[in-house]
Amino acid sequence: MIKKYTFGQPLETGAAVQAIAAHSQPFDLMHLAHTQDGICLSCRMDTQDVVYGLGEQMRGINKRGFSYVSYATDDSFHTESRHALYSAHNFLILNRTNGASFGIFIDDPGTVVFDVGETQLDQLVIRAGKDCVIYTIEGNGLKDIVKQFRELIGRSYIPPKWAFGYQQSRWGYACAQDIRNVVQGYHGKNIPLDAVYMDIDYMERFKDFTVDAEKFPDFADFVEEMRGQGIHLVPIIDAGVKIEEGYPVYEEGVKGNYFCKDGDGNDFIGAVWPGRSHFPDVLNADARAWFGGKYRVLIEQGIDGFWNDMNEPAIFYSDQNLKKAMEAILSFKDQNLGLHEFYQMKGLVDGLSNSEEDYKSFYHNMDGVKIRHDQVHNLYGYNMTKAASEAFDQIAPNKRILLFSRSSYIGMHRYGGIWTGDNASWWSHLLLSIQQMPSLNMCGILYTGSDIGGFGGDATEDLLLRWLAFGIFTPLMRNHAAAGTREQEIYQFGHTEDFRNIIRIRYGLLPYLYSEFMKCALNNEMYFRPLAFDYPQDTHAPQVEDQLMVGDSIMIAPVYKQNATGRYVWLPEDMLMVRMKSLEERTCKVVEQGHHYVDIALNEVVFFVKKNHMLPVAALDDDVKNISGIDAGRYEWIGYAEEAAEYVLYEDDGVSKEYTPREDWKRIILAERYLSN
Ligand code: NOJ
Repeated sequence: MIKKYTFGQPLETGAAVQAIAAHSQPFDLMHLAHTQDGICLSCRMDTQDVVYGLGEQMRGINKRGFSYVSYATDDSFHTESRHALYSAHNFLILNRTNGASFGIFIDDPGTVVFDVGETQLDQLVIRAGKDCVIYTIEGNGLKDIVKQFRELIGRSYIPPKWAFGYQQSRWGYACAQDIRNVVQGYHGKNIPLDAVYMDIDYMERFKDFTVDAEKFPDFADFVEEMRGQGIHLVPIIDAGVKIEEGYPVYEEGVKGNYFCKDGDGNDFIGAVWPGRSHFPDVLNADARAWFGGKYRVLIEQGIDGFWNDMNEPAIFYSDQNLKKAMEAILSFKDQNLGLHEFYQMKGLVDGLSNSEEDYKSFYHNMDGVKIRHDQVHNLYGYNMTKAASEAFDQIAPNKRILLFSRSSYIGMHRYGGIWTGDNASWWSHLLLSIQQMPSLNMCGILYTGSDIGGFGGDATEDLLLRWLAFGIFTPLMRNHAAAGTREQEIYQFGHTEDFRNIIRIRYGLLPYLYSEFMKCALNNEMYFRPLAFDYPQDTHAPQVEDQLMVGDSIMIAPVYKQNATGRYVWLPEDMLMVRMKSLEERTCKVVEQGHHYVDIALNEVVFFVKKNHMLPVAALDDDVKNISGIDAGRYEWIGYAEEAAEYVLYEDDGVSKEYTPREDWKRIILAERYLSN
């Protein structure tokens, strides 16, 4: 049951799509107080209670013991002490052992703070602005609460099927030849690859919707050449538009009044990669239509996928703040800088980027209403992505175009996926990525994944092997790294055969992974789930922070520690352990419910099939190069049927928006007592 409460005069964010009548009774699930800054909700948590949700955030699956701030932030040091990342996903579930569990969604596009027992161990405190809508959801268990929430916010974005293939990215592929080399690096070693990303290097002086003609002569031909090899090119689009006379996007934006304004009504200036830039006012319907329409220029050259970046929006500095900081720094000239002076001076530079002062200094025209940016900050990335998606509906109405964003708010999941931003080549970030997945799924973001191998820092071979062994289960499986870091394409490392085997396992499992993704998207369900969602009676499951259910049939337990030769795994019931050294070389064995130490070598993938469940596995030719090489006629089945198992296989053409109707989903039944070997 969903209840809706309106406080003050909230803005329409578009997060919810289901019409719910305002609840007539006073808010009573948590204690409500009106403060000077807005509203404050609080309640007690018992020791055993678990808090799930908050989407893209730091820390564990159980969010207890920290506070989380919803304020989209471009911060590339995702350390344990960080309170905010790139997105704002204000939905959580308090799962109570005694008393009614509930979900709560705070639809407030400004700052929202979730103090989940940080200040006081047993107190959940939520602070929001005075104008917001709050939805509470009670239901029959965790899955039901999520499903109701997902119905409220609408169906998740569905990408084209090729976007489930393995993808390679790097900030620094500087020209067409660099990209050809990457493709050759993979295909030359018979390693499948479906996409290569184009980071900011492809643009002319970092100008959106331009392609540097020197580095990429005859771009449309190059896109076609790549398509001929089965490769999709995925260019990045940034939020900031370079200020440059003669650059049509800039000139049109100024002329059409499509940019955010400063306090004096001039186009607001902030600097990003291209230097001084303007920011399209994507919260305005006309500006959104205009900016979205710009993607056409790349689509017409054969592009069918995009990633939207820097859309918190990230601002390196603003004119006014830079001027102030420069003047202040100059005042330190020739002084003997003691402790305080030195840190004060240093802080002047550090404080330039993404400053609150800047976010308070520009305005949106939300279809006639002037709104200061900080009050709707979390809606920017969402609306940039909506702009693109709405334009795609015009440009290619029945075609799925790959689209994902760095920043998002609940509601954006209908238009695109997200990646989890600038993580690092740290083992702790492999674990973080595992823990973020179910929380993101709760908030509707199904097409997601982290930068495999880590973005910042140098990836080691073992880290990349382990990360890939987890990454084969994430819908977005993209290896991405920052400029200046160790080259991270898998052919750069020694044990190519081991890497190749892991990637081929992904392609072998794709019929299952795609089928499960699609069913979850079409049924408003979660593709990744914490164990407690599937085993509510299991008292140990809520403590498991490093294993996930993936789709309906399997559980994974990735290794995320360096030099570990295996790991402890909790089995909530007897399961079939599947061990793959390669797609072809696999063994299966029933393992009893309980704790087990499982050896998992660096070159192995291990997963567990639930009792009376099964999954399809594609048999692949040795030279499969991409997803189109998977032959639907050559599926094998891995299953564990103590009584009988049935699998509902979803298949479609992978590109159109005509999804297979439910009654056509294929049912495959395994005979009684079937056990794979
Ligand atoms: C920041 C993004 O998070 C990262 O993925 C990208 O490589 C850089 N911007 C450069 O465009």
